[in-house]
Amino acid sequence: MKLKVGVMGATGMVGQRFIMALQGHPWFELSVLMASSNSAGKKYRDAAKWYLKDEIPAGISDMVVEEINKKVADKYGLDIVFSAIPAEVAREVEASFAESIAVFSNTSTYRMDKDVPLLVPEVNPEHLGIIEVQRRNRGWEGFIVTNPNCSTAGLVVPLKPIIDNYGIKSVNVTTMQALSGAGYEGVPSMAILDNLIPFIKGEEDKMEIEPHKILGRLEKNEFKYAGFEAFASCNRVNVLDGHTEAAFVYTDKDFEIEDVKKKLREFEGEPQKMGLPTAPKPPIVLMDKDDRPQPRFDRDLGGGMAVSVGRVRKKREKLLKFVCLSHNTIRGAAGASVLNAELAYKKKLF
Ligand SMILES: NC(=O)c1ccc[n+]([C@@H]2O[C@H](COP(=O)([O-])OP(=O)(O)OC[C@H]3O[C@@H](n4cnc5c(N)ncnc54)[C@H](OP(=O)(O)O)[C@@H]3O)[C@@H](O)[C@H]2O)c1
Repeated sequence: MKLKVGVMGATGMVGQRFIMALQGHPWFELSVLMASSNSAGKKYRDAAKWYLKDEIPAGISDMVVEEINKKVADKYGLDIVFSAIPAEVAREVEASFAESIAVFSNTSTYRMDKDVPLLVPEVNPEHLGIIEVQRRNRGWEGFIVTNPNCSTAGLVVPLKPIIDNYGIKSVNVTTMQALSGAGYEGVPSMAILDNLIPFIKGEEDKMEIEPHKILGRLEKNEFKYAGFEAFASCNRVNVLDGHTEAAFVYTDKDFEIEDVKKKLREFEGEPQKMGLPTAPKPPIVLMDKDDRPQPRFDRDLGGGMAVSVGRVRKKREKLLKFVCLSHNTIRGAAGASVLNAELAYKKKLF
């Protein structure tokens, strides 16, 4: 029998991706869609501002949206809730569900808490070990697992084989982030057409701190952050989906460029080894053409879960340059959460 799943924020950009990611899922069955009081009581097709090319799946279109409330978990017998709601409302709501069931969250609210995993299954699966502490600290039967900010999510995957093989002294990254990253009401067309905006509120702070937790270690029930410096410059560009990032990495050890490419190409994490349903194979698609990756062509690789990496160059001793691209609402949001849930389920956390 499949596990029963609810989605909070189901009408939004990320919520729509959850609906698609859960269609025909071998272990999870989408049982309820939740959103704000504006949408509650409406049929999904009338409440959602559907922006995906594919039609709203049959069976979802006529579902009536519920207002977000813990009682919904009991009413539908939920095992899991995926959260894609604004950070401002997440703290109380997510905690109320976590009292009894597993919560996988996209919001920034709990990401940096000392007893909450900020999980990227290919990078730090062992961080799920903190759940036991979280349950004890908070008296919850359920738990919260978070996934990173959508730009961090794409960056840390190629950084993992780099830090493991050469060490990292510092990372300098400039992002070119898609419009869907700002949500449906995010960026007015008059602001972005024929333009780019060199500022995304709060984004640089998240990118400069989250990689330290993700690439750090869990030791004696405490996160030891990775010690490198991170510098980010974040830009909104006129692209629908897919965040592109240009990175400069100063390594501890020197490297041969062909060796770096081999390590990126051959990289695999636990999700690939365990054969999790949402795991892309390979997680990193290494591109040799000088003009790739590009969002329009490459964002959907691996069902939107692969990170494309190109322009891998050695500038001088211990200085590596590359460009990476990932789908912000799939690898950077809904797909990431579903992969987190698959890993936690396989590790028998619920
Ligand atoms: N977009 C991305 O690439 C991305 C990536 C990673 C993480 N995230 C995070 O994921 C979350 C959702 O982002 P999004 O881009 O999907 O936003 P969005 O398109 O604006 O959707 C927001 C969703 O939250 C619901 N909502 C809004 N205000 C609410 C309230 N006061 N109480 C309960 N529900 C409320 C909305 O319901 P109604 O339709 O009823 O208003 C809608 O379902 C945010 O925390 C965001 O930071 C987004």
